[in-house]
Amino acid sequence: MPLRLTDDFKAKAARVCAAYPRKDAALIPLLQELQREKGYVAEEAMDALAAFLELPYARVKAVVTFYTMFNRAPVGKYHLQVCRNISCHMAGAPGLLARLREKLGISEGETTRDGLFTLSSVECLGACGSAPVLQVNEHYFEKMDERTLDALLDDMRHGRLRAADF
Ligand code: FES
Repeated sequence: MPLRLTDDFKAKAARVCAAYPRKDAALIPLLQELQREKGYVAEEAMDALAAFLELPYARVKAVVTFYTMFNRAPVGKYHLQVCRNISCHMAGAPGLLARLREKLGISEGETTRDGLFTLSSVECLGACGSAPVLQVNEHYFEKMDERTLDALLDDMRHGRLRAADF
């Protein structure tokens, strides 16, 4: 069954669209809003948003699949995204990824069985001067090393970092 956008979403969307000279310019902010609501952007949501913005579905899908900031499936409470681009690679990102794989028992694209962590590697996060960078949900942890990573995982596991805080 096709997804129906909620009245609340449509009201927000109308306000966002009004801030732009053209309705289609609101595509990315509205995708972000959809993701804020559900944690990911489902195929049906892309379809509904395309209809709402009077855009081809392919254009919406192209944006969602281009940017790693959009999740296309549910993710864990903490979405750990390690930058794999050149500066981070040179500064130790492969070691961080290996550490996360080992400690969480999952590979990129997977979620731990308890639903706490999803692991991804992503393209440049735009903070190359502070490499290596780990993004957790919407928060950046810069100049990461394995010791800081271990402490961070421990904090998340024990609820000392609440996903809702960032
Ligand atoms: S290369 Fe990692 S933030 Fe740019």
